[in-house]
Amino acid sequence: MMSVAVLASGRGSNLQALIDAAARPGSQFAIRCVVSDRADAGALARAHAAGIPAHFIDPAIHADRASFDAALDAAFAGHDLTVLAGFMRVLGSALVQKWAGRMVNVHPSLLPKYRGLNTHQRALDASDTEHGASVHFVTETLDSGPVILQAVIPVNASDDAATLAARVQAQEHRIYPFVVGLFAQGRVALVDGVATLDGKALAMPLRVDADTDLECIAA
Ligand code: GRF
Repeated sequence: MMSVAVLASGRGSNLQALIDAAARPGSQFAIRCVVSDRADAGALARAHAAGIPAHFIDPAIHADRASFDAALDAAFAGHDLTVLAGFMRVLGSALVQKWAGRMVNVHPSLLPKYRGLNTHQRALDASDTEHGASVHFVTETLDSGPVILQAVIPVNASDDAATLAARVQAQEHRIYPFVVGLFAQGRVALVDGVATLDGKALAMPLRVDADTDLECIAA
């Protein structure tokens, strides 16, 4: 059973999707640790409710980022994969390098478009006809690591940032546990800086839409 640590700052809906997936029969991963930089994060409450050890690591009591990152690293120790699920701080290079190939993130855009914040409004402002979410390996440059899987949704004429965010999040909840499952099965990896599926380099990220049967894409 692969042991997963989740790092989250917010309400934790992606964490919940991971907890739910881990509880399904046949799951090959377990969420064994949740860490937040915010004492009031919904993610911590969700962890408590699920009986998962939950840690608030207070950035304010750490003199610098290296010290904060060391506390994070200590919490991750012994786990196989670290999953960033709405963690709103930039991690230092040393921590990211240490966890290279064993740290993933979900980002609410079709990367490389719209790294950083306000992705939904930026997609609307650009009159994009499609938008979505990406699951990627974490590297030292924010939202720039190799993408494994993207879920694409159409942008409708009636959409605003809130409706887009809701539809993108629904896709995140589908694809993030799926990728963690693939990782647990040893099917997804980072090799020489390239994301691979079943030992083959992904020249392009895997792409699905809301109707795609995920089990088929990676069969
Ligand atoms: C998600 O939309 C994710 O893409 C972004 O942060 C948000 C976290 O939401 N990185 P939640 O806390 O999982 O509900």
